[in-house]
Amino acid sequence: MQFSLSTAFVALAGLVSAVVGETHTVHFDNRCGHGTPKLVQGGKVLSSGEDFTIHGPLVSAIAYLQTGDCGLNGENCTLIQTTLQNGGSGSDTDISLVSPHKFSVTSGFGYYGGCDGAGADCKDQECPEQYHPVPCSADNVNLAITFCL
Ligand SMILES: *[C@@H]1O[C@H](CO)[C@@H](O)[C@H](O)[C@H]1NC(C)=O
Repeated sequence: MQFSLSTAFVALAGLVSAVVGETHTVHFDNRCGHGTPKLVQGGKVLSSGEDFTIHGPLVSAIAYLQTGDCGLNGENCTLIQTTLQNGGSGSDTDISLVSPHKFSVTSGFGYYGGCDGAGADCKDQECPEQYHPVPCSADNVNLAITFCL
């Protein structure tokens, strides 16, 4: 009896750790000296500049620097779109200036804790880096977003 109980406990603990094992952090580096970084998912603000950590996948989140001119979903501002997830199609992040978004401040992103060095910077209104998703297939990858590069 004791044996089967502890076996069940170990199996359960393994299951729980598999479920809660996934984690991702989004970190902001705002070098503009003004504005408030925003991380938004489905119309809900997840961060206003502080590190945001999620225990599980972060699907279809957006980020921008709220300068006072941006809508909740980053309208009128340089937009970063990201999905951070283990497995499946993996993580993907890109920069968009497509209407209703438009260039506001130089913005860049880079993965860390996996795929280090992979990322993109949007430095002007031309921003040839936009619409080029940067994938990452590493598990538990994190994202650093910088404004005013
Ligand atoms: C975007 O900018 C235009 C022109 O300034 C303004 O009319 C509009 O309300 C802005 N959109 C949002 C969502 O702030």
